[in-house]
Amino acid sequence: MHWKPFFSRPEDQRLTPELLADIQASFDRAAADEEHFPSTIDPRIYHVKLIREHLGALAGKRVLDIGCGKGRFLRVLREQDPAAEYWGLDLSAEMLRFVPPEIHTRRGSMTELPFEDGFFDAAYATESLEHAVEIGRAVAEMCRVVKPGGRIAIIDKNAAAWGRLKTPAWEKWFGRKDLERLLARYCRKVSSRPISYWEDVPPDGLFLAWLAVR
Ligand SMILES: C[S@@+](CC[C@H](N)C(=O)[O-])C[C@H]1O[C@@H](n2cnc3c(N)ncnc32)[C@H](O)[C@@H]1O
Repeated sequence: MHWKPFFSRPEDQRLTPELLADIQASFDRAAADEEHFPSTIDPRIYHVKLIREHLGALAGKRVLDIGCGKGRFLRVLREQDPAAEYWGLDLSAEMLRFVPPEIHTRRGSMTELPFEDGFFDAAYATESLEHAVEIGRAVAEMCRVVKPGGRIAIIDKNAAAWGRLKTPAWEKWFGRKDLERLLARYCRKVSSRPISYWEDVPPDGLFLAWLAVR
């Protein structure tokens, strides 16, 4: 079975309980692979810097990482801004075992977040929305749990670069306008841009960042 990336068939595929269980099992297994699913990240990497920049001062705020994996972004944010409350949500219990104990964790699906409306001041998702299958639902949930005026950031792969990497059957990449349109249903000030790992290296077209204010 081969699914096209998000831009061409936005809502065709359903996240059935069976597919969700397959995705979970796949990431539970992947948790043992520290090389491809690392638990730390160099704080100089632009993906980290951009999220920090967009989220702004975090002291006293409640922040959610959606599809946090082993919590590599949360770990760095907490080191740099310890006076915030950090939460990580992921489908895989095996991934969550690596998240530092000072960070709150929840196991669940980003398509049905176990949090009340406006519980967070900010939320972000890095390379996880591509696994959500029902992308519209996941974006709606992300926006629902952030309070009005709160910041939202998504970093994920560009549909225009589809084929550059090997991907599991359920994975989808996004066009800039696709996610901009979805975010604009719930957010004001929506923008997107190509990014690279290093600020001084021009983007090669693989990664895009979407930034929004709820
Ligand atoms: C490529 S990893 C990225 C992890 C982390 N954001 C990072 O950048 O290190 C994708 C993560 O998304 C999680 N994931 C996949 N589908 C999910 C879903 N429906 N709900 C929540 N998490 C999900 C996986 O378990 C995995 O940890």
